[in-house]
Amino acid sequence: MDGRLPYFDIILEGRSRGEPASEALSRFVHWGYWEDPAGAPRTPEGLGAAMERLNGLLLDAAELRDGQALLDAGCGFGGTLAAVAAQRRDMRLIGLNIDARQLAVAAKTAAGSSWVQGDACVLPFASGSFDRALAVECIFHFPSRFAFLREAARVLKPGGMLALSDFVPNDPDGKASWLGQRLGEQIGRGYGVMGTGWPDGDYAVMARKAGLEVVLDRDITAHTLPTYPILLGLLKGTEGAQAVNLRRATKLLEWSSRLGLIRYRVLAFRR
Ligand SMILES: C[S@@+](CC[C@H](N)C(=O)[O-])C[C@H]1O[C@@H](n2cnc3c(N)ncnc32)[C@H](O)[C@@H]1O
Repeated sequence: MDGRLPYFDIILEGRSRGEPASEALSRFVHWGYWEDPAGAPRTPEGLGAAMERLNGLLLDAAELRDGQALLDAGCGFGGTLAAVAAQRRDMRLIGLNIDARQLAVAAKTAAGSSWVQGDACVLPFASGSFDRALAVECIFHFPSRFAFLREAARVLKPGGMLALSDFVPNDPDGKASWLGQRLGEQIGRGYGVMGTGWPDGDYAVMARKAGLEVVLDRDITAHTLPTYPILLGLLKGTEGAQAVNLRRATKLLEWSSRLGLIRYRVLAFRR
Protein backbone atom coordinates (compact mmCIF):
# COMPACT_ATOMS: atom_id res chain seq x y z
CA MET A 1 0.00 0.00 0.00
CA ASP A 2 1.48 3.32 -1.05
CA GLY A 3 -1.01 5.40 -3.05
CA ARG A 4 1.44 8.17 -3.91
CA LEU A 5 -0.36 10.54 -6.25
CA PRO A 6 1.90 12.57 -8.59
CA TYR A 7 0.51 15.94 -7.52
CA PHE A 8 1.17 15.14 -3.87
CA ASP A 9 4.80 14.38 -4.82
CA ILE A 10 4.97 17.92 -6.24
CA ILE A 11 3.22 19.51 -3.24
CA LEU A 12 5.36 17.65 -0.68
CA GLU A 13 8.62 18.44 -2.51
CA GLY A 14 7.58 22.10 -2.80
CA ARG A 15 6.69 22.09 0.88
CA SER A 16 10.24 21.08 1.82
CA ARG A 17 11.49 24.09 -0.23
CA GLY A 18 8.85 26.49 1.12
CA GLU A 19 7.38 27.16 -2.37
CA PRO A 20 4.27 29.39 -2.57
CA ALA A 21 2.11 26.78 -4.35
CA SER A 22 2.70 24.29 -1.55
CA GLU A 23 2.15 26.96 1.10
CA ALA A 24 -1.26 27.70 -0.43
CA LEU A 25 -2.13 24.00 -0.26
CA SER A 26 -0.81 23.32 3.23
CA ARG A 27 -4.24 22.93 4.90
CA PHE A 28 -6.57 21.78 2.12
CA VAL A 29 -5.89 20.19 -1.24
CA HIS A 30 -9.28 20.76 -2.85
CA TRP A 31 -11.13 23.26 -5.01
CA GLY A 32 -12.56 26.54 -3.73
CA TYR A 33 -16.18 27.74 -3.50
CA TRP A 34 -17.17 31.31 -4.44
CA GLU A 35 -20.74 32.53 -3.93
CA ASP A 36 -20.07 35.18 -6.59
CA PRO A 37 -17.49 33.65 -8.97
CA ALA A 38 -17.40 36.78 -11.19
CA GLY A 39 -16.18 38.99 -8.34
CA ALA A 40 -13.66 36.48 -6.96
CA PRO A 41 -10.20 37.86 -6.08
CA ARG A 42 -7.74 35.75 -8.08
CA THR A 43 -5.14 35.42 -5.35
CA PRO A 44 -3.73 32.51 -3.32
CA GLU A 45 -5.34 34.11 -0.23
CA GLY A 46 -8.66 34.18 -2.07
CA LEU A 47 -8.24 30.49 -2.88
CA GLY A 48 -7.45 29.73 0.78
CA ALA A 49 -10.68 31.39 1.93
CA ALA A 50 -12.64 29.65 -0.85
CA MET A 51 -11.23 26.22 0.10
CA GLU A 52 -12.33 26.89 3.68
CA ARG A 53 -15.86 27.71 2.36
CA LEU A 54 -16.02 24.51 0.30
CA ASN A 55 -14.95 22.58 3.37
CA GLY A 56 -17.73 24.34 5.30
CA LEU A 57 -20.31 23.21 2.71
CA LEU A 58 -19.29 19.59 3.30
CA LEU A 59 -19.42 19.98 7.09
CA ASP A 60 -22.91 21.52 6.82
CA ALA A 61 -24.01 18.73 4.45
CA ALA A 62 -22.90 16.13 7.02
CA GLU A 63 -25.08 17.80 9.73
CA LEU A 64 -22.36 17.48 12.37
CA ARG A 65 -23.28 17.61 16.06
CA ASP A 66 -21.09 17.80 19.17
CA GLY A 67 -20.00 14.45 20.59
CA GLN A 68 -20.08 12.48 17.34
CA ALA A 69 -17.55 9.97 15.99
CA LEU A 70 -16.40 11.23 12.57
CA LEU A 71 -14.33 9.50 9.88
CA ASP A 72 -12.60 11.69 7.26
CA ALA A 73 -11.67 9.31 4.42
CA GLY A 74 -8.92 10.63 2.10
CA CYS A 75 -8.08 13.22 4.77
CA GLY A 76 -5.16 14.93 2.97
CA PHE A 77 -3.20 17.23 5.29
CA GLY A 78 -5.88 17.20 8.00
CA GLY A 79 -7.44 20.64 7.36
CA THR A 80 -10.98 19.25 7.45
CA LEU A 81 -10.59 17.64 10.88
CA ALA A 82 -8.78 20.76 12.19
CA ALA A 83 -11.82 22.83 11.12
CA VAL A 84 -14.20 20.38 12.85
CA ALA A 85 -12.13 20.41 16.05
CA ALA A 86 -12.30 24.22 16.09
CA GLN A 87 -16.12 24.24 15.78
CA ARG A 88 -17.29 21.17 17.72
CA ARG A 89 -16.80 19.64 21.18
CA ASP A 90 -16.18 16.09 22.39
CA MET A 91 -15.79 14.64 18.92
CA ARG A 92 -13.92 11.40 18.13
CA LEU A 93 -12.05 12.40 14.96
CA ILE A 94 -10.33 9.83 12.75
CA GLY A 95 -8.54 10.63 9.50
CA LEU A 96 -7.76 7.87 7.00
CA ASN A 97 -5.39 8.12 4.07
CA ILE A 98 -3.56 5.73 1.83
CA ASP A 99 -0.44 7.93 1.80
CA ALA A 100 1.60 7.82 5.05
CA ARG A 101 3.49 11.03 4.12
CA GLN A 102 0.25 13.03 4.22
CA LEU A 103 -0.75 11.50 7.55
CA ALA A 104 2.56 12.69 9.06
CA VAL A 105 1.66 16.26 8.03
CA ALA A 106 -1.97 15.85 9.16
CA ALA A 107 -0.88 14.80 12.66
CA LYS A 108 0.64 18.29 13.06
CA THR A 109 -2.30 20.13 11.40
CA ALA A 110 -4.97 18.60 13.64
CA ALA A 111 -3.36 17.35 16.85
CA GLY A 112 -5.91 15.45 18.93
CA SER A 113 -7.30 13.48 15.99
CA SER A 114 -6.28 9.87 15.24
CA TRP A 115 -4.72 8.90 11.93
CA VAL A 116 -4.95 5.57 10.16
CA GLN A 117 -3.23 4.45 6.98
CA GLY A 118 -5.57 2.46 4.75
CA ASP A 119 -7.62 2.17 1.59
CA ALA A 120 -11.02 3.83 1.79
CA CYS A 121 -12.53 0.84 -0.03
CA VAL A 122 -11.39 -1.59 2.70
CA LEU A 123 -12.00 0.40 5.88
CA PRO A 124 -10.18 -1.04 8.91
CA PHE A 125 -13.05 -0.26 11.31
CA ALA A 126 -15.81 -2.30 12.92
CA SER A 127 -19.33 -2.03 11.53
CA GLY A 128 -21.42 0.78 13.03
CA SER A 129 -18.45 2.68 14.53
CA PHE A 130 -19.16 6.20 13.19
CA ASP A 131 -21.98 8.77 13.33
CA ARG A 132 -20.63 10.65 10.34
CA ALA A 133 -18.21 10.13 7.45
CA LEU A 134 -16.67 12.60 5.01
CA ALA A 135 -14.80 12.15 1.74
CA VAL A 136 -13.80 15.61 0.54
CA GLU A 137 -12.83 15.56 -3.15
CA CYS A 138 -11.23 12.13 -3.16
CA ILE A 139 -13.73 9.40 -4.13
CA PHE A 140 -12.69 9.62 -7.82
CA HIS A 141 -9.21 8.41 -6.75
CA PHE A 142 -10.55 5.36 -4.91
CA PRO A 143 -10.49 1.94 -6.63
CA SER A 144 -14.32 2.05 -6.88
CA ARG A 145 -16.90 4.66 -5.91
CA PHE A 146 -19.42 1.92 -5.17
CA ALA A 147 -17.00 -0.07 -2.95
CA PHE A 148 -16.42 3.07 -0.88
CA LEU A 149 -20.15 3.80 -0.52
CA ARG A 150 -20.72 0.21 0.63
CA GLU A 151 -17.88 0.46 3.15
CA ALA A 152 -19.09 3.85 4.40
CA ALA A 153 -22.58 2.38 4.89
CA ARG A 154 -21.06 -0.53 6.84
CA VAL A 155 -19.04 1.61 9.27
CA LEU A 156 -21.86 4.15 9.83
CA LYS A 157 -24.42 3.65 12.59
CA PRO A 158 -28.07 3.43 11.50
CA GLY A 159 -29.18 7.02 10.74
CA GLY A 160 -25.52 8.05 10.25
CA MET A 161 -24.54 10.35 7.41
CA LEU A 162 -21.86 10.54 4.71
CA ALA A 163 -21.03 13.77 2.84
CA LEU A 164 -18.68 13.93 -0.14
CA SER A 165 -17.70 16.03 -3.13
CA ASP A 166 -16.81 14.59 -6.52
CA PHE A 167 -15.94 15.46 -10.11
CA VAL A 168 -18.64 13.56 -11.96
CA PRO A 169 -18.65 12.98 -15.74
CA ASN A 170 -21.98 14.30 -16.99
CA ASP A 171 -23.08 11.09 -18.68
CA PRO A 172 -26.83 11.45 -19.06
CA ASP A 173 -27.66 7.74 -18.99
CA GLY A 174 -25.51 7.16 -15.89
CA LYS A 175 -23.25 4.70 -17.76
CA ALA A 176 -19.57 5.30 -18.51
CA SER A 177 -19.52 7.07 -21.87
CA TRP A 178 -16.57 6.88 -24.25
CA LEU A 179 -15.93 10.58 -23.65
CA GLY A 180 -16.18 10.29 -19.86
CA GLN A 181 -13.65 7.45 -19.84
CA ARG A 182 -11.21 9.29 -22.17
CA LEU A 183 -11.43 12.46 -20.05
CA GLY A 184 -10.75 10.41 -16.91
CA GLU A 185 -7.69 8.84 -18.54
CA GLN A 186 -6.27 12.15 -19.81
CA ILE A 187 -6.85 14.06 -16.57
CA GLY A 188 -5.40 11.05 -14.75
CA ARG A 189 -2.06 11.66 -16.49
CA GLY A 190 -1.61 14.68 -14.26
CA TYR A 191 -3.67 13.73 -11.21
CA GLY A 192 -3.08 9.98 -10.98
CA VAL A 193 -6.14 7.75 -10.93
CA MET A 194 -9.15 9.87 -11.90
CA GLY A 195 -11.97 7.39 -11.74
CA THR A 196 -12.66 4.99 -14.54
CA GLY A 197 -15.34 7.01 -16.20
CA TRP A 198 -18.62 6.08 -14.60
CA PRO A 199 -18.68 2.28 -14.40
CA ASP A 200 -20.75 1.89 -11.26
CA GLY A 201 -23.98 3.56 -12.37
CA ASP A 202 -25.47 6.80 -11.09
CA TYR A 203 -25.16 7.92 -7.45
CA ALA A 204 -28.85 7.22 -6.79
CA VAL A 205 -28.37 3.62 -8.01
CA MET A 206 -25.06 3.09 -6.20
CA ALA A 207 -26.42 4.55 -2.97
CA ARG A 208 -29.50 2.32 -3.00
CA LYS A 209 -27.37 -0.79 -3.60
CA ALA A 210 -24.99 0.27 -0.82
CA GLY A 211 -27.82 0.79 1.67
CA LEU A 212 -27.74 4.61 1.64
CA GLU A 213 -30.33 7.24 0.77
CA VAL A 214 -29.28 10.37 -1.17
CA VAL A 215 -30.43 13.40 0.87
CA LEU A 216 -28.47 16.11 -0.99
CA ASP A 217 -27.12 16.32 -4.55
CA ARG A 218 -25.94 19.81 -5.51
CA ASP A 219 -24.05 20.84 -8.65
CA ILE A 220 -21.63 23.62 -7.59
CA THR A 221 -19.44 23.60 -10.73
CA ALA A 222 -19.99 27.30 -11.53
CA HIS A 223 -18.99 28.26 -7.97
CA THR A 224 -15.65 26.41 -8.23
CA LEU A 225 -14.40 27.82 -11.56
CA PRO A 226 -12.13 30.61 -10.18
CA THR A 227 -10.01 27.77 -8.72
CA TYR A 228 -8.48 27.11 -12.16
CA PRO A 229 -6.75 30.42 -12.98
CA ILE A 230 -5.45 30.69 -9.41
CA LEU A 231 -4.14 27.11 -9.39
CA LEU A 232 -2.58 27.46 -12.84
CA GLY A 233 -0.89 30.67 -11.67
CA LEU A 234 0.52 28.85 -8.64
CA LEU A 235 1.72 25.96 -10.81
CA LYS A 236 3.52 28.28 -13.25
CA GLY A 237 6.77 28.14 -11.28
CA THR A 238 6.87 24.35 -10.86
CA GLU A 239 9.28 22.39 -13.04
CA GLY A 240 9.64 18.85 -14.42
CA ALA A 241 7.59 16.39 -16.48
CA GLN A 242 5.09 15.76 -13.64
CA ALA A 243 4.39 19.48 -13.34
CA VAL A 244 3.84 19.79 -17.11
CA ASN A 245 1.34 16.90 -16.98
CA LEU A 246 -0.39 18.48 -13.99
CA ARG A 247 -0.81 21.85 -15.77
CA ARG A 248 -2.19 20.10 -18.90
CA ALA A 249 -4.59 18.01 -16.80
CA THR A 250 -5.74 21.10 -14.88
CA LYS A 251 -6.51 22.95 -18.15
CA LEU A 252 -8.42 19.93 -19.48
CA LEU A 253 -10.41 19.68 -16.26
CA GLU A 254 -11.13 23.42 -16.45
CA TRP A 255 -12.49 23.23 -19.99
CA SER A 256 -14.42 20.02 -19.31
CA SER A 257 -16.03 21.81 -16.35
CA ARG A 258 -16.74 25.02 -18.29
CA LEU A 259 -18.35 22.98 -21.09
CA GLY A 260 -20.45 20.98 -18.62
CA LEU A 261 -18.79 17.63 -19.46
CA ILE A 262 -17.71 17.20 -15.83
CA ARG A 263 -19.71 18.50 -12.87
CA TYR A 264 -18.46 19.27 -9.38
CA ARG A 265 -21.13 17.84 -7.09
CA VAL A 266 -21.68 17.84 -3.33
CA LEU A 267 -23.68 14.85 -2.11
CA ALA A 268 -24.95 13.67 1.26
CA PHE A 269 -26.36 10.28 2.18
CA ARG A 270 -28.17 8.83 5.18
CA ARG A 271 -27.80 5.23 6.24
C1 LIG B 1 -7.74 15.94 -3.64
S1 LIG B 1 -7.03 15.18 -2.24
C2 LIG B 1 -8.20 15.69 -0.99
C3 LIG B 1 -7.58 15.73 0.37
C4 LIG B 1 -8.48 16.25 1.49
N1 LIG B 1 -9.72 15.52 1.58
C5 LIG B 1 -8.77 17.72 1.32
O1 LIG B 1 -9.92 18.05 0.99
O2 LIG B 1 -7.87 18.53 1.53
C6 LIG B 1 -7.41 13.42 -2.43
C7 LIG B 1 -6.99 12.57 -1.24
O3 LIG B 1 -7.44 11.22 -1.42
C8 LIG B 1 -6.43 10.35 -0.90
N2 LIG B 1 -6.63 8.98 -1.44
C9 LIG B 1 -6.50 8.58 -2.73
N3 LIG B 1 -6.80 7.27 -2.86
C10 LIG B 1 -7.15 6.82 -1.62
C11 LIG B 1 -7.61 5.57 -1.12
N4 LIG B 1 -7.76 4.51 -1.90
N5 LIG B 1 -7.88 5.48 0.20
C12 LIG B 1 -7.73 6.56 1.02
N6 LIG B 1 -7.32 7.77 0.60
C13 LIG B 1 -7.03 7.92 -0.71
C14 LIG B 1 -5.16 11.03 -1.36
O4 LIG B 1 -4.01 10.53 -0.74
C15 LIG B 1 -5.48 12.48 -1.04
O5 LIG B 1 -5.22 12.78 0.29
